[in-house]
Order: sequence, then C-alpha cells, then structure tokens
Amino acid sequence: MQVPPFDLTEQLHQLGEALEDAVLQVLRSGQYIGGATIARFEQQFAEAVGTPHAIGCNSGTDALVLALRGLGIGEGDEVITSSFSFFATAEAISAVGATPVFVDVEESTYLIDLDRIEAAITPATKAVMPVHLFGRPVDMERLGAIAAAHDLLLIEDCAQATGASWAGRPVGSWGDAGCFSFFPTKNLGGAGDGGAVTCRDPALAARIRELAVHGMPRRYLHTSLGYNSRLDAMQAAVLSVKLPHLAGWVEQRRQLATTYRSELADLQGLMLPAEGPSGHSWNQFVVRVPRCPSAEAGCGGGCVPSSDSATYGLPESCCRDWLKQALAEAGVNTIIYYPIPIHRQPAYAELGYGPGSLPITERLTAEVLSLPIFPELSAAQQATVTAVMRQLVTQPLSLAS
Ligand SMILES: Cc1ncc(COP(=O)(O)O)c(C=O)c1O
Repeated sequence: MQVPPFDLTEQLHQLGEALEDAVLQVLRSGQYIGGATIARFEQQFAEAVGTPHAIGCNSGTDALVLALRGLGIGEGDEVITSSFSFFATAEAISAVGATPVFVDVEESTYLIDLDRIEAAITPATKAVMPVHLFGRPVDMERLGAIAAAHDLLLIEDCAQATGASWAGRPVGSWGDAGCFSFFPTKNLGGAGDGGAVTCRDPALAARIRELAVHGMPRRYLHTSLGYNSRLDAMQAAVLSVKLPHLAGWVEQRRQLATTYRSELADLQGLMLPAEGPSGHSWNQFVVRVPRCPSAEAGCGGGCVPSSDSATYGLPESCCRDWLKQALAEAGVNTIIYYPIPIHRQPAYAELGYGPGSLPITERLTAEVLSLPIFPELSAAQQATVTAVMRQLVTQPLSLAS
C-alpha cells in the first residue's frame, strides 16, 4: 500500500456533486470577479473566526502583505517573527519594506519562544507576527499581553491553522489582523490559491479591501498604490461548500494525531510532537528524528552528510533523511517542513544571521519529518504508517536521547 502525505481523492468523492454544482453555478452566472458568492463566503468565514470582518484575497501570502500594509507597517519598521515557518511569513514583511527579526522557537512546541520576544524589541519594532505552525496555536493571551505592554501590533499568521483556537477562541480573532491561506493542502483548502484577512476594526477592513483592489475606494479613483489580490468567485464557491465541514475535518485530524501519539509512544528513537492544547488543528503531525533511529540498518552514525547541511551551515540531517528514504521505500511518503530555516536562506543572507544564530530552529530543520495526516486518511493507511515506523525505528533510548 502506498500512503501519500496528502490526498484529496476521498474528499472529492464525498463532496463531488456539491462542489460541481457550486462551480457550475458560478460558471453559468458569468460573475467571476466580485459579487454575491464572495460576499457570502466572507461573511461565513468571518462568523467562523468570530470577527466582524473577513476580506478574501489571492493567497495567504497576500493576506499577510495586505494586513501589514493596512496596519501601516513599512520602510524602517521591524516585525518580530519565527524563522521556523514557510518562507512567505518573512517574505511578506520584506515585501512591504519592513525587516523581519527572527526569534528562536520553543523546543517542545516548535512555536515562537515567548520568553525571547522582549529581548528582540527595539525602537523600530512595530509588530509581532506569531505563526500558528502546523495548526498549533500560540498562547495568544500571553503574547497579547507582551504586545500590549510594548505597544506593538499583532498580526497572526494563521495559514496552517484554520479551525484552530486558543482558550476556546479561534486563531485570527486575537490579533489586530488574522491571515489565512486556502492553499489546497490547508485545513480549509480551495481549488487553487486563495486567502483571507480577518479583523475587528472596520476602518482597517476598508483599507485592506481597497489595497486588494489597486488602492481603489471607488471605481477608477486610486488613493494608494495597492495590488490586484482578489479571491475569485470559483474559489469562494468551493470554500463555501467546504467550510461547514471544517470543524469535523479538524476533529478527524485530532483523532489521527491521538492515534499516532499512542501507537508511536514507545518508539524511543523518535520524539513525538507535544500533546494538545485542545484547540490544536493538526495541519501537520511532525516528529523529530534526533539520532539514527535504526539499530540494524540506517546510518549507524556514519551516513553521508547531506549537501544542504554543508551548504547552509545547518546541523547534520542524515538520520532523519535516512528514515524518510526508508519510509518511502516501504510506501509511506512524508514531507520535511522545513529543511532550511528562513534566516539561513540565500535570499536573506544580507540580514546576517550566521550558522548557530537560532540553534533550536536550526536543529529542528535537521530533525523534523511530517507523517501523513489529512481527514480522510483511512485507519488502514494509518496502521501501515505506524507498522512501518515500528519496523524501522529500533534504536534504544540510550542511543536516541
Ligand atoms: C505559515 C505560512 N504562512 C504563509 C503561507 C502562504 O500562504 P499561500 O501559499 O496561500 O500564499 C503559508 C503557505 O504555505 C504558510 O504555511
């Protein structure tokens, strides 16, 4: 049996007719840009997040750019964020002319370390951008207090965390703005690119709406330099069909995560992701492979160093890479989110973060491996993943710790 890291086949089978009807309706309406389909989805999404406003846009990346621009962040400003994320988190900050300032992550949650934020604040700091990475919510009560104490704006990168909540309140409703991605692999995925910004402030919502349409408050009057970043009607129609299923899908992800945690708990060559909190939406289930996990095979401590480690000054990843390869040979396909941290990317060489500048982030990039997790992953598929893992991971704790 081949187990893919992500697969839409079963979901399309379940929703096929409703999706086809919705798309055909848009197609036949002739209204592809703007209009009631988009307004309806925006209202539904705002309700789901618990904010008065949701503004659809082209992608999660654009959602971040629009939120930053809408909040007046630009040239000369610094935004504190995490380097253990998808590149777009920092790229959006740079796209508006500001500078990303990276803070290391917590070892157990992989999230920005709240204890290190205050040391990174300078007179130029305007905002903090937490990333609810892999669907795990950042402690927004604590982070909100830090931001308020230093008069900083709070922009949540919720791209991987649609359906997640902190203390019972959805992510995207805590900060000044919440930024979502509807990329197909996300918890709420469209049939292409899409994103949304959520916020409470009506003036901010209006500014973001204008920026998303060429800085145009009314037809052919342009009061600022904006973007062409609209959610199109086909995507909105697809997302409206899927949104009512989001809570159930997140619950299925939680159950899969619970099963992985219990089935893999005694594999001592492996570090499992920390449990909960209850609002975790498990977009990814990410294990760590800190040493060679196999006593019989594997690198045995002598595997060939990967070229990325040498090129980007990162810790050696060969043990994790060996497990990934061995899993693939047994039909279990995994993904590495992310093999090179943002601060060590060639595009950010000018920021001057050398090897070892964010040691936990750098170690994680060498050790993490995302196991297959999506709502429709069958019990048989998950059992295959855990059985293969049990065959491969045999190294005792004394060597693995
Ligand atoms: C944490 C994070 N931020 C931002 C983005 C950007 O979203 P999009 O791909 O919709 O532009 C992604 C997408 O992978 C992401 O994972």
